[in-house]
Amino acid sequence: MELLKKKIREEGMVLSDSVLKVDSFINHGVDPQLMDAIGEEFAGRFGGQGITKVLTIESSGIAPGLMAALKLRVPLIFARKRQSLTQSEGLITSKVYSFTKREENTISISGKYIQRGDKVLIIDDFLANGQAAFGLIDLVEKAGADIAGIGIVIEKSFQDGGAILRQKGFRVESLAEIESLEAGRIAFKEDQASELNRS
Ligand code: G4P
Repeated sequence: MELLKKKIREEGMVLSDSVLKVDSFINHGVDPQLMDAIGEEFAGRFGGQGITKVLTIESSGIAPGLMAALKLRVPLIFARKRQSLTQSEGLITSKVYSFTKREENTISISGKYIQRGDKVLIIDDFLANGQAAFGLIDLVEKAGADIAGIGIVIEKSFQDGGAILRQKGFRVESLAEIESLEAGRIAFKEDQASELNRS
């Protein structure tokens, strides 16, 4: 997705060989026009398959997830990382280990919102080692629903989450695939121009 790659080239900061900072438009500041286009792109790629729900995880998955849900005309559900005060019955939970933060979170959704018969599109902002995606898949499977696919805004293809998910037979669609962040350069998969942009 050219618009997204342009934004990453212009505003992305390479923090290390494995971490890309995109705080100005995805992880802290959010660019609504870009999110609108991202939602449209996901809807174009996954539309026509009878998707009934979009599932993401708080917090940075919510903006792209909401726009995808809006364009697909289905509800959005976001998994919580902390249990809500008002949510206790019928919780479906899964454990997610973050390599970045070196901590384990229990993520949850209410069984009310995803049920047998649902066809779920999973959306997230980043795909690195795939732990968040595996946790979301586990929630959908525990709910007895089907997975239509996994839509990712930025995939770091030098980490193995995408390869494992595809090997398992999931349809993974990433709007920007980054092959390398070495030496401060953002190298997209197809190969495109990279940029020196170390913060
Ligand atoms: P994984 O789910 O693919 O295994 O990723 P990992 O555990 O390594 O990532 C933990 C958190 O860090 C996730 O956000 C993930 O989106 C984010 N992340 C991973 N790699 C990058 C990166 O290169 N740049 C940025 N900006 N984020 C990255 P989170 O902790 O759930 O944060 P949030 O959704 O609340 O913002």
